[in-house]
Amino acid sequence: MSRSRNGVAVRPARYGFFFLALLICICAWALPASAQPELTQSGIATAHPLATRAGEEILAAGGNAFDAAVAISAALAVVEPYASGLGGGGFWLLHEAETGRQVLIDGREVAPAAATRDMYLDAQGKPQAGLSVSGPLAAGIPGEPAALAHLAKNYGRLPLATSLAPAIRYAEQGIEVSRGIGMGLMFRAEAARNSPAFSAIYMPGGKPVEAGATLRFRDLARTLRKLAADGHDGFYRGSVARRMVTGVQAAGGIWTRDDLAAYKVVEREPIRVQYRDATLVMAPPPSSGGVVIGDSLNILRAWDLGKLQSVERKHLTVEAMRRAYRDRAMYLGDPAFVSMPIERLLNPWYADGQRTSIRLDRATPSDDLPGIAPAAGGGTNTTHFSVLDKAGNRVAGTLSINTWFGAVFIPPGTGVILNNEMDDFSAKAGTPNSFELLGADANAIAPGKRMLSSMSPSFIESPRGVAILGTPGGSRIISMVLLSALAWMDGADAREMVSLKRYHHQYYPDVVVHEEGAFTVEEKTGLEARGHKLELSPRSFGNMQVVTWDRKTGRVDAASDPRGGGEVTVY
Ligand code: GLY
Repeated sequence: MSRSRNGVAVRPARYGFFFLALLICICAWALPASAQPELTQSGIATAHPLATRAGEEILAAGGNAFDAAVAISAALAVVEPYASGLGGGGFWLLHEAETGRQVLIDGREVAPAAATRDMYLDAQGKPQAGLSVSGPLAAGIPGEPAALAHLAKNYGRLPLATSLAPAIRYAEQGIEVSRGIGMGLMFRAEAARNSPAFSAIYMPGGKPVEAGATLRFRDLARTLRKLAADGHDGFYRGSVARRMVTGVQAAGGIWTRDDLAAYKVVEREPIRVQYRDATLVMAPPPSSGGVVIGDSLNILRAWDLGKLQSVERKHLTVEAMRRAYRDRAMYLGDPAFVSMPIERLLNPWYADGQRTSIRLDRATPSDDLPGIAPAAGGGTNTTHFSVLDKAGNRVAGTLSINTWFGAVFIPPGTGVILNNEMDDFSAKAGTPNSFELLGADANAIAPGKRMLSSMSPSFIESPRGVAILGTPGGSRIISMVLLSALAWMDGADAREMVSLKRYHHQYYPDVVVHEEGAFTVEEKTGLEARGHKLELSPRSFGNMQVVTWDRKTGRVDAASDPRGGGEVTVY
């Protein structure tokens, strides 16, 4: 067969080899190292099948991992409305294959301009339970819509409107009431009664919607369409902003149009920590994830954990968590407002110092560490997804509206569930928040400030390959990512990483919370003999999503936590 080009007949039999060789040379020159031929598959792991399909649809339409991240984030806002959404925020950790550049897109919420340090305290200076958890006063200015517009504009290949299309379709066609929606309503039904727009969707006739019923989100679809048409301004200015502010103020909130107009995404340099032959690329403040995981690994690096008995290994891991979470409480906050000793906290010399108080034969009571006073608080919701495209672009995205259904408040006419991330600030030094996390002045409330987060989207890079991981779980996010990172560096695969039984210590309360099966009988006995107080969690925790790429075989693998209802795709 021959074909004609520029009037010259080209016979493939004669010139085929030449052209093939030329093509291979051009491709090898044009493609970056991370996209060399061994990577031939894409992988997606999310907490919901429809979110995974949205990502798949956008990759198939010619989008890259960043477009897929926009599609997945927006889809999650519709199908997991209790966990994340346009009324919330998140962190998107990116690796751009072409340039090798890595950046954290910080779409974290900020405190409105009228917020004050003591806004949740009563006349006696006591935190007023509930104000930072339910209703519009609990909500920070959302960052997710800005982050999606920023991702599409600066990193994607497709228009924002194309990547938002699956979410708009889901919102208009409706989704089935899931177990997650049912669980969320079980926890938040009482608060829902204060938001007529929320109740109209989720509590018709005053009762939680039934499992299996179909929910349609017309207002949310309209808000998504405004974002699709007008980008950033479609949410932060104009009719959507007006409706949001009117609804918030009518219900006692303090947002203004200026707060929305002033919201900006921040691009941040990730934290990088070397552990054995791996580099961990993690979220910097206002996420505490990178610092706490890095601090923990620095403490642990002095021991050859694989050579220790498992009880010693778990004891040391708990002691490392205890010290690193203490540093979180003491030092971390929004870098625009507080000067943090990050370099010191991640310096090996600092870890040497931390290690001197660790004994192999006994637990260190948290009271014995210099720090801030304890006190008592529970609940978790957030979501995570991991994406890798065939070119080698990657995204680890962790998004949140904080606890189940956030502030359980929808400004009428918007369909947007507001976050309750203001509770992630330290309302009062030494008083724990919903995750029983303590904080100090570094995380005190101030206008325009981002609240400290535990969200920890992460990459692990080593000669073995790359892992893209993260999970929801409030304060436990950090310890879950730490345990799975240690497991991957010991040879675990994606499935083993998400299935791992979890244990957690966060400095205060001074207990090791664990899942059933996290410790053997001998390990429990050994930990208790050392003075650890073990507390069995009444339910499993986390919903980790992992994508891995094996550098040697080229194999892409993905796994979704068996505790959740997520779905993965590799193709
Ligand atoms: N809202 C949970 C976190 O950011 O840590």
